[in-house]
Amino acid sequence: MRIDAVTIFPGYLAALDLSLIGRARREGIIDLRVHDLRDFTHDRHRTVDDTPYGGGAGMVMKAQPWREALTHVLDSDDGRSGPAPVLLVPGPGGERFTQASARELAKAPWLAFACGRYEGIDERVYEWATERMEVRVVSLGDYVLNGGEVAVLAMVEAIGRLLPGVVGNAESLVEESHEGGLLEYPIYTKPATWDGGDGVERVVPEVLLGGNHAAIADWRHQQRLERTAARRPDLLHDAATTGGLADLDHAVATPADAAELAVLQKACWIEMVAPVENWWGAPAEDADTVAADLEHWSTHVFRSGGRLVGSVRVRRDPTEPRTWQIGRLMVVPDLQGRGLGRELLALAESLAPPDVDTYWLNTGADQQRLLRIYRKAGYRISGEGEGPGTVDLTRRA
Ligand code: ADE
Repeated sequence: MRIDAVTIFPGYLAALDLSLIGRARREGIIDLRVHDLRDFTHDRHRTVDDTPYGGGAGMVMKAQPWREALTHVLDSDDGRSGPAPVLLVPGPGGERFTQASARELAKAPWLAFACGRYEGIDERVYEWATERMEVRVVSLGDYVLNGGEVAVLAMVEAIGRLLPGVVGNAESLVEESHEGGLLEYPIYTKPATWDGGDGVERVVPEVLLGGNHAAIADWRHQQRLERTAARRPDLLHDAATTGGLADLDHAVATPADAAELAVLQKACWIEMVAPVENWWGAPAEDADTVAADLEHWSTHVFRSGGRLVGSVRVRRDPTEPRTWQIGRLMVVPDLQGRGLGRELLALAESLAPPDVDTYWLNTGADQQRLLRIYRKAGYRISGEGEGPGTVDLTRRA
């Protein structure tokens, strides 16, 4: 994997020479190149920031050095005419970086990181970069760091260790916290009885001392559940539904589902509920409108413990019968990012009759996350959609 990182503190990233990631670099598994943003300035003071338009505290990183630095990264393709890197911009206002993100990003051949400092980077850099590569703002968590470098250290380690050959024992990747959506079980090593100097003899749980592997596996699973319940109860609900679509109850929607579907539409497109100029009506639709549409589409609903967590609808295009229309692909926000959307899309495609030659769907031209999912699934933009600000996407069946 190739990784580029642009920063004003290249020394910060020297830690990536150490330990397993350092070894992976030396072995050529990770080709990490660190660039000093100040090398792309042209004034005596190597200035990378300036005061914000409109006033306010702090400084803003100037667009020009960023354009030159990122152009340098893009142009250093080494003659590979492969895809551009995915550009990751660490920031507290980004999508949450999780183990699922690490797994997804570990599949990319090329990642680039842009470390912001001060109040952030001139917004026009994002626009410029988005026209040249996939750009994702990613946050480590709900707290503010002074800059992106610490986040890059964390992300490169989380992603890098998933690359084949970086961690010696592949099993240790499967057995750890967050894999499978649960926290890790407690671990012990010799001696079996340990005196902590406080007069208490602490012993290793009995089950671990015997050789009953099934009993040990059961104990460890129970410990994972108890730990997760105590420390991260939010993960337990998710873990119950991480098995994928096959673990959900599947039914074809009836008018009785309409009210919940209308709520799901709002939850999925919440950012469009307020603006008047919605690119289409789904977020604003009421239950009656949804119920009326059920007559024109075959709508599939998926439930976990009774809760509606996903839906998709399909039909033959009324005017182009060999086209299979797929619409309203929705996964509740708390379960997004774990592949359920892709599974729903595959299911929607599999429902097409054999004479269909094209799958069709439509989405907002600015829906980067959805466009990324559809592009990955083989869909390409085929033109402007009927609704303002929408695009149609198709794929050969
Ligand atoms: N930069 C500043 N705060 C950050 C955060 N929480 N995550 C990632 N990058 C950041």
